[in-house]
Amino acid sequence: MSTLKVGVFGGRRGGNYVSMMASRPEDIEVVAICDRDIEKLKCKDIVPAAKLFTDFDEFLAWGKDNGMQAVFLANYFHQHAPFAIRCMEAGMDVVSECTSASTLKECVELVECVERTGRKYMIAENYPFSTKNLEMKRIVDSGALGSVMYAEGEYNHGGPGASVRNEAQGEFHWRAWLARTYYNTHALGPLMYMTNSMPLYVSARAAHSDYLYSYRDVRHNYDGTAYMFCEMDNGMIARCTGCTAAASDYSRYRVVGDNASIECGGYTEGVRMMWHSYTKPEEEESTIKHIIPDLATMGEKAEKAASSGHGGADWWIVDNMIEYFVNGQKPFFDVYRGVAMSAVAILGWKSCLNHGENFKVPNFRSLKERNAVRDDDLTPFPGENGEPNTIPSSVPFSDRPLVRKPEAEE
Ligand SMILES: NC(=O)c1ccc[n+]([C@@H]2O[C@H](COP(=O)([O-])OP(=O)(O)OC[C@H]3O[C@@H](n4cnc5c(N)ncnc54)[C@H](O)[C@@H]3O)[C@@H](O)[C@H]2O)c1
Repeated sequence: MSTLKVGVFGGRRGGNYVSMMASRPEDIEVVAICDRDIEKLKCKDIVPAAKLFTDFDEFLAWGKDNGMQAVFLANYFHQHAPFAIRCMEAGMDVVSECTSASTLKECVELVECVERTGRKYMIAENYPFSTKNLEMKRIVDSGALGSVMYAEGEYNHGGPGASVRNEAQGEFHWRAWLARTYYNTHALGPLMYMTNSMPLYVSARAAHSDYLYSYRDVRHNYDGTAYMFCEMDNGMIARCTGCTAAASDYSRYRVVGDNASIECGGYTEGVRMMWHSYTKPEEEESTIKHIIPDLATMGEKAEKAASSGHGGADWWIVDNMIEYFVNGQKPFFDVYRGVAMSAVAILGWKSCLNHGENFKVPNFRSLKERNAVRDDDLTPFPGENGEPNTIPSSVPFSDRPLVRKPEAEE
């Protein structure tokens, strides 16, 4: 079997994947890397044979002439869809970092491109595949929770002042304008995977952070968190965040059934399972049990994955790429699930700006539902050259004295 020839677009996060792909030379070959800052990035030295580009058009044209079969998109967060479309139109399969699309219009365009070209598309949503989350899924699938009624996912990624300031590279960089619901795949994705469900409706609220507001000279997203409530197609309610700056630096997940519930997060080693006193199985000593995932019983792949980035999750993305692009095995996070997560983020933000109004998440398989949103290009992100955004990046709030000052002043 020949190796899969992959090009990587975006060399910062993309650099992690260049390393991981380089560790599987029997399956994958990184043939090209494109980043306008390539000379500054470590990834340029990982695969000496890879051709380096600073310009996407040249990267794509070279790829077309040199048998590049797939592109790994790790470019700016809000620009994945247009580049995914260009790659698929050029005859290449695509794995896209989160998020799939940053407007509803792009959701429609992306789905229609996959359907038109027949190319393979998957989203590199990795958090569902951490060892702990895989264990959560195993328990849900076993039926031990009874009927699943509620699930919650919280993706926390706070940062000290220096990173709040420096992570945005330039005035119009996406991190400085990222409205709080948008980075939701690490919170919602694991819930969809664990419970095999899709979002139908969303309503959301965002909360202002004085700390972030004190950096308003460089950032325009000063809500600390946003919570989205989703009605899911399996009858449960899901509550998820975008990327939050909540004062806890670990992500956490919980699934609640009428028989038992489970949860995991940085605060637990493994998974915590809880029963009612009257539903506790006889063989259990207590109504609370700590379950440490047993890698020996989770399969050879889980063992290989365990030491990779994000709690063992990143390895699975490379494996899913190989299984899909080479062996034709469809991944869970296909284009429809990708745009469903993006739509929850986009409509969740619209809800935050409208006091929690409830919105239907379009079914992007339906032409009628696509037609209803195909011109909706509202976005909190400005253009690269400063073209203004069309909705705010923070919920309006009235000025009041700061209760917490920037770190430098503390
Ligand atoms: N799944 C995860 O755990 C995880 C972790 C980190 C980042 N990410 C995602 O990966 C993506 C990239 O993240 P990042 O932190 O590296 O972002 P970043 O904005 O810091 O870096 C993006 C890189 O893409 C390059 N780039 C963008 N547009 C380009 C163009 N037109 N031509 C040439 N180069 C271009 C930039 O020069 C930059 O180096 C984001 O979508 C982010 O959400 C995911």
